[in-house]
Amino acid sequence: MSDKVVLAYSGGLDTSVAIKWLKERYDLDVIALTVDVGNVADLEAIRRKALDMGAIKALVIDSRESFIKSFVFPALQADAVYEGQYPLATALGRPLIAQLLVETAKKEGAIAVAHGCTGKGNDQVRLDVSVAALAPGLKIIAPAREWNMTREETIAYAQSHNIPIPITTASPYSIDESLWGRAIECGVLEDPWNEPPKDAFLWTKSLEETPAQPAYLEIGFDKGIPISLDGEKLDGVTLVQRIHDLAGQHGVGRVDHIENRLVGIKSREVYEAPAAVVLLEAHQALEDLVLAKEQLRFKAKVAAEYADLTYNGLWFTSMRQDLAAYVESTQRYVTGTVRVKLFKGNCQIVGRKSPYSLYDYSLATYDKGDVFDQSASPGFIHIWGLPVRTQAEVQPEPPE
Ligand code: ARG
Repeated sequence: MSDKVVLAYSGGLDTSVAIKWLKERYDLDVIALTVDVGNVADLEAIRRKALDMGAIKALVIDSRESFIKSFVFPALQADAVYEGQYPLATALGRPLIAQLLVETAKKEGAIAVAHGCTGKGNDQVRLDVSVAALAPGLKIIAPAREWNMTREETIAYAQSHNIPIPITTASPYSIDESLWGRAIECGVLEDPWNEPPKDAFLWTKSLEETPAQPAYLEIGFDKGIPISLDGEKLDGVTLVQRIHDLAGQHGVGRVDHIENRLVGIKSREVYEAPAAVVLLEAHQALEDLVLAKEQLRFKAKVAAEYADLTYNGLWFTSMRQDLAAYVESTQRYVTGTVRVKLFKGNCQIVGRKSPYSLYDYSLATYDKGDVFDQSASPGFIHIWGLPVRTQAEVQPEPPE
């Protein structure tokens, strides 16, 4: 009997070829593991395909709930967006896949885990580092990184090994999908001057086709976690899915990002992340209402760190745990409702309320009922301006 390896299996060409290749090159029996993080096509067909390709076992794990609960919502609470543009859908899915690879390898007594990443991207780093964090010493095989085949050579290998070439191979793009977003790369998109063609998008309508009337929705949050839509309490997966559908209809969530990969490459990445864009906007709008100025300023720095470490494959680290503890603490009053208007690709925040709002009408108003003591301002300004006056007297600004 051969040793076993657990392969993260997507059903695509590379991981299908990998099943044969792992047997041929390493004499390993492959257990295919497909992780459902949402919006995945026909999972049963993928499972059957793995077996057809020679896998000794094919597992499909529905992980949508843990993906949302343990990865997406903590990142939402952190306001984590890479380089201010990318809501990290793929980056958040990889540590979960690594976790399931490790768990399955233990359960099945496999000697190694494997994945289909190439040697040029971020995903190899995320999977390798996450596996190492959870099971130091467990062998990791990345066939596509080792075999060094071009796309044509991979197709030729597939043909000579009776591996059906999926029609999707005809698609000019490399796609990765989860509930939090869809990444589209390759083909004509590799020229940053090219406008992404219509067929790159699947989840979001182009502006020419969006409805002529806006849609409004009210998102309820409890301690930074979205829990309801228009007053209806929903579980995380359903809530994200509903916002996804609605925002997509209005063309919200397209991102065209010149992105800095960890491996040093600048790449052009196109995303559709309708739910992520709406929820991140709404969450921050509620924070604007309930967090103090200093909290907001410092939290924005933490958000950038959190996004970077997530992007860079450092999810399962002490650093993330520590930042997560800070983020968690900031969320204790992030409870309330945000009203969002979706129209022609825009997601506008048009209302927000919270029992913990720091917005005080009687302080802010210019109308009757103003309680702000304007007579205290000159004294405040006198002290505030003191160092400026002192310096100006000793070191006069040179004339223009
Ligand atoms: N550039 C994004 C990231 O690094 C998306 C990667 C998409 N992955 C893929 N295998 N197509 O997270």
